[in-house]
Amino acid sequence: MSDTVIRVDNLSKKYVLSHQQEGQSRYKSLREVISNGAKSLSQKFLKPSGKEIYSPSREEFWALKDVSFEIKQGDRVGIIGRNGAGKSTLLKILSRITEPTNGRIKINGRVASLLEVGTGFHPELTGRENIFLNGAILGMSKAEIKRKFDEIVDFAEVEKFLDTPVKRYSSGMYVRLAFAVAAHLEPEILIVDEVLAVGDAQFQKKCLGKMEDVGKEGRTVIFVSHQMSAVESLCTRGILLESGTISIDGTSEQAVRAYLEKAYSLGEMTPLWQRTDRSGSGRVRASSFRILNSEGIQESSLKSGEDYYFEIGYLNNTGIALKDVVVSLDIFDEKGNRILLLRTNFTKSNVSLNPDKGYIFCGINNLLLTHGSYRFSIFISHSDTEILDYIEDAASVNVDGGDFFGTGSSGLPSHCKILAKANWSTKIAINNHNYLL
Ligand SMILES: Nc1ncnc2c1ncn2[C@@H]1O[C@H](COP(=O)(O)OP(=O)(O)OP(=O)(O)O)[C@@H](O)[C@H]1O
Ligand SMILES: [Mg+2]
Repeated sequence: MSDTVIRVDNLSKKYVLSHQQEGQSRYKSLREVISNGAKSLSQKFLKPSGKEIYSPSREEFWALKDVSFEIKQGDRVGIIGRNGAGKSTLLKILSRITEPTNGRIKINGRVASLLEVGTGFHPELTGRENIFLNGAILGMSKAEIKRKFDEIVDFAEVEKFLDTPVKRYSSGMYVRLAFAVAAHLEPEILIVDEVLAVGDAQFQKKCLGKMEDVGKEGRTVIFVSHQMSAVESLCTRGILLESGTISIDGTSEQAVRAYLEKAYSLGEMTPLWQRTDRSGSGRVRASSFRILNSEGIQESSLKSGEDYYFEIGYLNNTGIALKDVVVSLDIFDEKGNRILLLRTNFTKSNVSLNPDKGYIFCGINNLLLTHGSYRFSIFISHSDTEILDYIEDAASVNVDGGDFFGTGSSGLPSHCKILAKANWSTKIAINNHNYLL
């Protein structure tokens, strides 16, 4: 059919894992790097994270298995799935950065991709030089690129740093420029992996808007994200990947619904120590997660306004005590929006780990989440230089009941997830003066 721009037939990709797992430990998605608060990306990529003790039993690993689909011109396709499902691998094959092991792809049109940090840009070249390099790779003439240049710089807000090598850019600047280049150089097919995980809310909105524009111009967008609300609003079509195979290929709403249902049931069923959909060096692994009430008794759900301990069991595979370990709990709502980030270094509370195993407790008073379903991700790193363990959807938890306000009101859970008590009045006293409003 003439309006088919991408055709994928029985695509498979096999990785062979070495014992040292160097490839895997170096391989970090954009989101992983950013969620570690990485300032120096290059340092992170260049420095292998010490000896790897954790090694899986499997040597061969199929990241994609027999994947087939067709994408038509102007389709906006959201690709979703849990960590390790094969989303980025698929995008890399479509962008011809990696070869498939088996199967075929056929693409009609110029592809611009924004994948993990490090692809597409040359670190030693300046922002300006990278814009021209990328344009040339896309087959554009110098004059064409010049015409787009100001728009790109304007969108990325990097004017002052145009003549700085991009390796000196902050992660936010880097991604802004990379996105601007990919989206503005008039690709026929725009492929974007997770860009919304970085940047502030305003930039995220700008990116979504730009991708929508690109789609409206009749061009094709393929978009990987863990933010279900973004996938639903941007995409007309959704593909759900599960362990390297397609489990749903339908509308974005159908794919999102299936993903959310599966995410919850899986999160409840598989104990943390058995989970393989995780990343990090593995020198420390989170092995369990429980909610305890203020008496230390395990709870299966939460109530707004109450006090709790989140308990993370860990296995330390290094055999030595570790100091200055950063632990994060990321809390997402059912649409994948991040609602809360609890992290030890915010409060200068980094923890020390026993040489073998133990528990980490995160105490929280007056729970400010309103009713609903939430998912917790666990992230453990060492001195902010080595990601030890990262499990997305480590637990799914319901908040139901509770009386945060002491009035019986639950807030409006469908409108807002965070509760705060406000003092309302028509009069305030400041410096002993009464102000009537
Ligand atoms: N270069 C590599 N060498 C070995 N294994 C790899 C490599 N790249 C990816 N993998 C593995 O292939 C699987 C699929 O990875 P992929 O990055 O495609 O997942 P993903 O769906 O993008 O996950 P995430 O949501 O975490 O970004 C994972 O188990 C990953 O560890
Ligand atoms: Mg990925």
